[in-house]
Amino acid sequence: MTMRVWVTGFLFVGIAAAAESSSSAVTYHKDILPILQKNCQSCHRPGQVAPMSFLSYEGTRPWAKAMKVAVATKKMPPWFADPQFGHFANDRSLKQSDIDTIAKWADSGAPEGNAKDAPPSVKWPANGWTIEPDLIVNGPETAVPAHPKNNVIEWSYVIVPSGITQDTWITSMEIRPSEPSITHHICVFFKPHTDDVKYNEPVWADRERDDNGSAVPSAAGVNGRGIPKSITEGSNGIEGCYVPGQLTQDYRVHGAAKLVKAGSDIVFQIHYTPNGKDLVDRPRLGFTIAKAPPQRVYVSLGMSAPSDAKNFAIPPNTGNWESPTAEATFTQDVELVWMFPHMHVRGKEMTYRLVYPDGKTETVLSVPRYDFNWQLGYDLAKPVKVPKGTRLVVTAHYDNSVNNKFNPDPNRTVYYGDMTWEEMMYPFFSVVVDAGVDARKIIKIDRGKQSDGA
Ligand code: HEC
Repeated sequence: MTMRVWVTGFLFVGIAAAAESSSSAVTYHKDILPILQKNCQSCHRPGQVAPMSFLSYEGTRPWAKAMKVAVATKKMPPWFADPQFGHFANDRSLKQSDIDTIAKWADSGAPEGNAKDAPPSVKWPANGWTIEPDLIVNGPETAVPAHPKNNVIEWSYVIVPSGITQDTWITSMEIRPSEPSITHHICVFFKPHTDDVKYNEPVWADRERDDNGSAVPSAAGVNGRGIPKSITEGSNGIEGCYVPGQLTQDYRVHGAAKLVKAGSDIVFQIHYTPNGKDLVDRPRLGFTIAKAPPQRVYVSLGMSAPSDAKNFAIPPNTGNWESPTAEATFTQDVELVWMFPHMHVRGKEMTYRLVYPDGKTETVLSVPRYDFNWQLGYDLAKPVKVPKGTRLVVTAHYDNSVNNKFNPDPNRTVYYGDMTWEEMMYPFFSVVVDAGVDARKIIKIDRGKQSDGA
């Protein structure tokens, strides 16, 4: 550690001198690998989202120049929280000194150095998992056709048995589609078993859509999706999701766990976006399990801004449309631990604010450059203590102009809807509470709608 600090300081004083001395030159094994292990290999290794692996010198070296650019422009590693607000346990953004080290290494010919200087390699979980699951549940198989009508496959719900036969406290969850390239999202619910349950039978509702695949705007909003409420009845709402950029949630960070009751069934809410190839997705759901019941319980919550066509209609060619807010009041003391903004391709910005009972306001998360391809969850390093009566107010802006490179059509009014070319305003968040608190009574929605999944 002392060594690294000294090397960085030395480079700062005299770059030319450093290049001359072989012992202080920036090398792969000594300086670059520690950065890759901490900030890059989670994605840049076989079986993960990144197209190339940074586990070895041979694999990394050809990317040296591209790495310098990617880290200088902050394209890599993907991280979108405004550093002014909140500190996050999963913050993988680089320190300026790391950015400088990568630049120096690339500029000096990306030398390998001595393998003896390398830190021990990281033991990544087997088979591509990010957590090391104690229990794996196979999700439903879905055949996704290459070219369905209007490229639309409606969301569907499929129930599978959990195989869990006794009350089980889970401490982390990971959802892994086998075909991430077509997976818009997969969310799961835990549902008490009922005798009439039909396993592995997808349930969906076809919506009336125009030739571009956009749903005819409805006064009821997206909540009139037409899915029978019974599908998720008895559940506590969405317990976790896979979306591009986000696969795990780890409650261990907060010393908390979540209960899956004996005999629960698992409802998969699945949404695929076809990409021109016939594919079959076989998602898997992994859990780590607590040895003893926890003191504190992790509760996943979510809400939506009003979604009816009167309140939510983004005019054509507008660069900064403000959505109606989503607002809720906490009905008891909680600790806020995690936030996760969800919008679609016109999503531009989302901000979470707490308004305390004494009127004081605190911004707890600001994501000024939202990117649909990197929907990240933000794990607060220090939970925010939220007294009963505090309100959570979430605001968002949308870019429906030509300046948004992901915008498929700036010339149309965009309504709330399920498809990526329609929009959503859906802030998720998690709290930790004492064991025994009723998860369904933690918030009262003041504006918008609570996530019930259907
Ligand atoms: C959360 C996952 C993730 C992390 C963490 C991550 N990358 Fe990437 N990286 C990707 C993916 C996916 C791509 C390919 C798609 C893209 O370019 O966005 C990529 C592409 C790149 C590219 C090619 C960029 C280009 O413009 O073609 C470079 C270079 C790179 N990453 C370097 C890094 C470095 C260095 C780190 C760590 C400091 C890092 N990445 C961390 C997922 C990640």
